[in-house]
Amino acid sequence: MQKNNQNIGFYFIAIMFGLIGTMQEALPQQKYPQFGIDPLKDVIAAMTIDEKALMVTGAKRREVYPTALPGKKQKNIVAVGGYTYPFLRLGIPPIYLSDGPAGVRIAPRRSGDSQTYYATAFPVATLVASGWDTSLSREIGEAMGHEALEYGVDILLAPAMNIHRDPLGGRSFEYYSEDPLLTGKMASAYVQGIQSQGVGASIKHFAANNQETSRRYINTIVSERALREIYLEGFRIVVQEAKPWTVMSSYNKINGVYTPQSRELLVDILRKEWGFNGFVLTDWYGGDDPVEQMKAHNDLLMPGLQVWTDTIADALRNGNLSMDVIDQNIENILNVALKTGTVKDYPYTEKPDFEKSKEVARRVARESMVLLKNEQHTLPIQAGSTSIGLFGNYSYKNLPGGTGSGAVNYEHAVSVAEGLKEAGFKLDPVLEKKYTTHLDKGKPLRDKADSLITAMPPRDSILSELAWDNHEIERSAKETDMAIITIMRIFGEGGDRHVDHFNLTTEELSLIDRVSDAYHAQRKKVVVLLNVGGVVETASWKDKVDGILLTWQSGQEGGHAVADLVSGKFTPSGKLPTTFPVRYADAPSAKNFPGTPIGNPTEVVYEEDIYVGYRYYDTFRVPTSFSFGFGLSYTSFTYTNFKIEKGKGGSATLLVTVENTGRYPGKEVVQVYATAPSGKLEHPEKELKAFAKTRLLQPGERETLRFEITPRMLSSFDTGASAWVAEKGVYDLMIAVSSDTIVANGKFRLAKSQITEKVSKSLIPQVPINILRPVKP
Ligand code: BGC
Repeated sequence: MQKNNQNIGFYFIAIMFGLIGTMQEALPQQKYPQFGIDPLKDVIAAMTIDEKALMVTGAKRREVYPTALPGKKQKNIVAVGGYTYPFLRLGIPPIYLSDGPAGVRIAPRRSGDSQTYYATAFPVATLVASGWDTSLSREIGEAMGHEALEYGVDILLAPAMNIHRDPLGGRSFEYYSEDPLLTGKMASAYVQGIQSQGVGASIKHFAANNQETSRRYINTIVSERALREIYLEGFRIVVQEAKPWTVMSSYNKINGVYTPQSRELLVDILRKEWGFNGFVLTDWYGGDDPVEQMKAHNDLLMPGLQVWTDTIADALRNGNLSMDVIDQNIENILNVALKTGTVKDYPYTEKPDFEKSKEVARRVARESMVLLKNEQHTLPIQAGSTSIGLFGNYSYKNLPGGTGSGAVNYEHAVSVAEGLKEAGFKLDPVLEKKYTTHLDKGKPLRDKADSLITAMPPRDSILSELAWDNHEIERSAKETDMAIITIMRIFGEGGDRHVDHFNLTTEELSLIDRVSDAYHAQRKKVVVLLNVGGVVETASWKDKVDGILLTWQSGQEGGHAVADLVSGKFTPSGKLPTTFPVRYADAPSAKNFPGTPIGNPTEVVYEEDIYVGYRYYDTFRVPTSFSFGFGLSYTSFTYTNFKIEKGKGGSATLLVTVENTGRYPGKEVVQVYATAPSGKLEHPEKELKAFAKTRLLQPGERETLRFEITPRMLSSFDTGASAWVAEKGVYDLMIAVSSDTIVANGKFRLAKSQITEKVSKSLIPQVPINILRPVKP
């Protein structure tokens, strides 16, 4: 102890002058317990108070460069988003963390190095969710985990899995769906993929972080039931199924308490109920009280500020924070650290297998894009013989993802124009020339960023659409066989959108109008591609065009994936993970998003409660433009032999045979919904309970799918009982092709009500919530 105390002052001074690496190396190491060799408890016991306070606050002190252990390769810290503090005398190296959901966030430039570093831009999470194929989500995770590992990254700050609560949510592109089951299953597979590579995942942002407006301090007021059923459920699924190494708490408060300071959230729910045993880190600069964060077992505060370290050290000295608490936090961090590439000394190459990643990115994109409209088999079209009038800036420039921490420094993103040409289509050369010249005026997508810690990639410069006069459009309509128009919407971290951004602009609507008129006058077809990071208005213009393909933000291979589908080489099989409302005002959250007071909201009340997305539109019969789960194919499917078999303990097994009755090989997403009996609790009209995608079925081929539905899956959250309860009575179990189109259904009786899980009474709203329940027509 005496020795440790003498060291405190010494180390403190060393840190201040940024000399810690060299000073520590000079110390004889054998005197101290060594991380990875000696018991963890001994290593922690050998840490001074200041060292402990440094261990739990990331190492973002710009003057300190985390030094590798003697004899180990020095990693380049600017290549990643953040890192933990190293303690060389104890053999503890820094652990490296990097964003993010759609690709590894690697800084393009490093000082003194002429090379530019890239990572693959994969399709955004909303597109991955549209595939409804967990095996593809796992493959994306594997590919991203591989890139992270090869860049020396230990923990990938992904997946982001908040709920699409409102169509204006700025980070929607990073999130999967409006449904917690789809979110949880896709994110689970992705985490398993990442972690299969020896890289940790960090599921974020835990929890109820469903808006960007006032994101650092917004107080989310939400009922216990909506929290459990909608906002926590996806996280629960991932924690229990995929065992993520880490969880990132969110910026917001839930019912008055910052999530990183909530013991109820991070201890009672996350660890005790769900069995999480990794470490929790804050979102960058999240929370306002480091000591409370420690007590809530938000183990690591990122990216690390000296004032946090000092506050924690003071609290340890004056008894406001017990040594047991911080020791537990450190143990949580170091237990995860033991699994990392850095600690295992993985010989990373900085040369990931990009060819493999490209193949995965392209395949996932084409298997997940959603065909929203296809009048009279407008698509597919024959490559080679078809010429296309290609309109819209973003037909010639692919916007592969959103902005902010989820942006990826990719080398090249394949545009629709490139993809179509490579597939053998001819493009109208006049349009192509004008658009490419116009786009050259835009700023580059990304600036040179030396450090990802401070430098955010700037928003893409959005050039206004080229103004075409009618003669030019008519000429193109005469000279080409069909038109394709791309509509783009950028989404990004740090801000929500405005309703004007949800609606199409006057210029876009006029382009759709005039191109449709001119091509239809020539009896030629028009297809719209939606290169968007979230939901946009479609109801007012969808009747004017013949086809709509929702490409979302499809990663760097997006243009190839579009060509794969347009040419009919592959059949679309994506389905919407989120409802497209008719008008923004129809969204259940529109009345209270993004909170009050208007202008600078400090609180938002989730008055729509459990009625999020299709749970609302279906229950209250609000018409939508495209419903949850909807998506067309070039081929057709029939569903036969639907059966419900009673299993043990109140379980049901559903069987259904899907047959490809059309002319193209294709895959079909099968959705299982349930309607609960009316009992003590009110319920949405129906809820998604399971889903699967068939294998590729050739025309005439069939596949029988099987779904196990347990009472836990049929349960709702009973606030009074603080329990998940499957109420007795008759359940309607349905097979559907979208939330509002049922193709087979049957009854299933649960003889007795069952408490399927008892939980803690936590996160109780401090004020009454006036739940909005519109009258059913
Ligand atoms: C974002 C996180 C991200 C972190 C580190 C924050 O602003 O909300 O999603 O992981 O920055 O870049």
